[in-house]
Amino acid sequence: MEFNRILNADSDVCLKELLVEGIKFDLILTDPPYNLNKDFGNGSDSLPFPDFLELTKKRIELCRDLLTPTGSLVWFGIHNYIGFIQVIMYDAGLHYRRMNIWRYENGFSRTKTVPSAQYEPFLWFSKSAKTWTYNAEDMRVPYKSKERLKSPVFYNDKRGNKKEWTPNPNGALRGDIWEYPTLAGNRYKVERTDHPTQKPVSLFYDLLRAFCPKDSEGKYRGLVLDPFHGSGTLGVCCEMLNREGNSISWLGVELEKRWCDVAQTRLEKI
Ligand SMILES: C[S@@+](CC[C@H](N)C(=O)[O-])C[C@H]1O[C@@H](n2cnc3c(N)ncnc32)[C@H](O)[C@@H]1O
Repeated sequence: MEFNRILNADSDVCLKELLVEGIKFDLILTDPPYNLNKDFGNGSDSLPFPDFLELTKKRIELCRDLLTPTGSLVWFGIHNYIGFIQVIMYDAGLHYRRMNIWRYENGFSRTKTVPSAQYEPFLWFSKSAKTWTYNAEDMRVPYKSKERLKSPVFYNDKRGNKKEWTPNPNGALRGDIWEYPTLAGNRYKVERTDHPTQKPVSLFYDLLRAFCPKDSEGKYRGLVLDPFHGSGTLGVCCEMLNREGNSISWLGVELEKRWCDVAQTRLEKI
């Protein structure tokens, strides 16, 4: 199998073939249809709800079987249904690591009947209960309060000894709320394609840095799959990282030729 490319295929068929070939992925990072009736050109987002759940179960089980022993599955969803998907992942024998939130940095409200949703949840489950990849040091975020850093901060360690806390020059360890902009508005015109649910590069780029294994020189490596590749954000981010000296191998599967072409154009522009 050749990697670092887009496969114009149906994941419901192609994942089974990958399994037969014995290919295993270190990371499956994907943003599948949420069943919100978006028009991807194929009706895949408008299934009767029981069919959506049945198909999601089959897809998650295939993804589980395609992971390396230390691999992770990162699966985007929507607040309406994420609870069902979390149950499917537990039932599949995957191991819960975190329910994360992508909070829209530029979210706004259009409705007065309910609070607007300004986030999308994404679940992270690992294949193993004991070993997985999370590059915590690469994910540090700036400290919120600079005031706190001006005077010394003390704490008691496990033995009750008073210790002085010193700030990490790279910032604080990150939490599970990931604040990144959506591609709405003029500011993101250049990045945006016609795909109705394109994810921002800024978000996927950091998720790859968080969850890809690293080699002995600290470079990102591993084999990454996005079975619902859409406009190709995952492939674009892998190639951006590879141009910075990393060596991630990736595969993006997308049913619609139209979105494969959009993704290919994006790749050629990097
Ligand atoms: C939510 S979008 C992914 C968007 C993508 N993350 C991006 O940044 O552009 C889901 C994609 O899955 C595709 N899709 C739906 N069913 C599929 C299937 N069975 N196999 C492969 N792709 C499929 C849709 O055509 C759609 O482009």
